[in-house]
Amino acid sequence: MVEGGYEVVRYADVLEVASENTDFKLLLDEMIDNFSSNGLNNDVENFLKKKAQPFHTMDMARTYLVFDKGFEDICGYYSIAPKSITIKQKDWEKISTNARKKLNPLGYRDTKNDQNIPAILLGQLGKNFASAHQIDGDKLIEFAFSTIYDIANQIGGRYLYLEADDNNHLSSFYTRNGFSFLSYNGGSVYKTKNDQVMFIKKMSA
Ligand SMILES: CC(C)(COP(=O)(O)OP(=O)(O)OC[C@H]1O[C@@H](n2cnc3c(N)ncnc32)[C@H](O)[C@@H]1OP(=O)(O)O)[C@@H](O)C(=O)NCCC(=O)NCCS
Repeated sequence: MVEGGYEVVRYADVLEVASENTDFKLLLDEMIDNFSSNGLNNDVENFLKKKAQPFHTMDMARTYLVFDKGFEDICGYYSIAPKSITIKQKDWEKISTNARKKLNPLGYRDTKNDQNIPAILLGQLGKNFASAHQIDGDKLIEFAFSTIYDIANQIGGRYLYLEADDNNHLSSFYTRNGFSFLSYNGGSVYKTKNDQVMFIKKMSA
């Protein structure tokens, strides 16, 4: 996909070219090495440097690299995985009926069991602060939406979700881009087992 000075390439395709072309592999390794989250999120930086490839090989996630159109830099990347939202019974019963109905129209009355909501996980998303071609976060997530909506159209997936550190910068970024917090009756925010917040966005109409 080429758009607005950027090109989105599946990591799988890049790996294939790299496996056949040593010069390209060296260049790719250098680009990945140069990726920096500017100290803001080590997980995002480490995932690209250390986990994207094994996660791909083990079919646990698919990563997409956003290059500038001259292919000088990786400007950003995102990684997605098919993974339902699992909510424990004790948490599910504390979510308002209305919210439960939206999340799971078939099982919203069932407050006796854990719930699994068909979803796609936006596992990673980050821009490369070291790139000479800075991409805006809104543009980067727009690329991610385009990939994810295509996939959801083909295979289903009611929600798009992600888990993030609870900070104002990330909250305003994700809410500006159409996500809301998963929260309990009364407004307190649902926390994952890693003490992160969950942002959800409905994909189906
Ligand atoms: C999230 C992101 C894509 C948003 O891009 P953007 O909309 O162009 O916004 P900016 O990069 O200009 O960041 C806006 C502000 O948020 C802050 N910020 C960004 N990510 C942050 C993080 N993970 N933790 C704390 N603050 C963060 C920036 O320092 C900046 O603060 P400032 O306005 O005081 O300078 C980008 O900031 C990024 O790649 N962050 C690091 C990776 C990350 O945290 N990804 C989200 C994983 S859930």
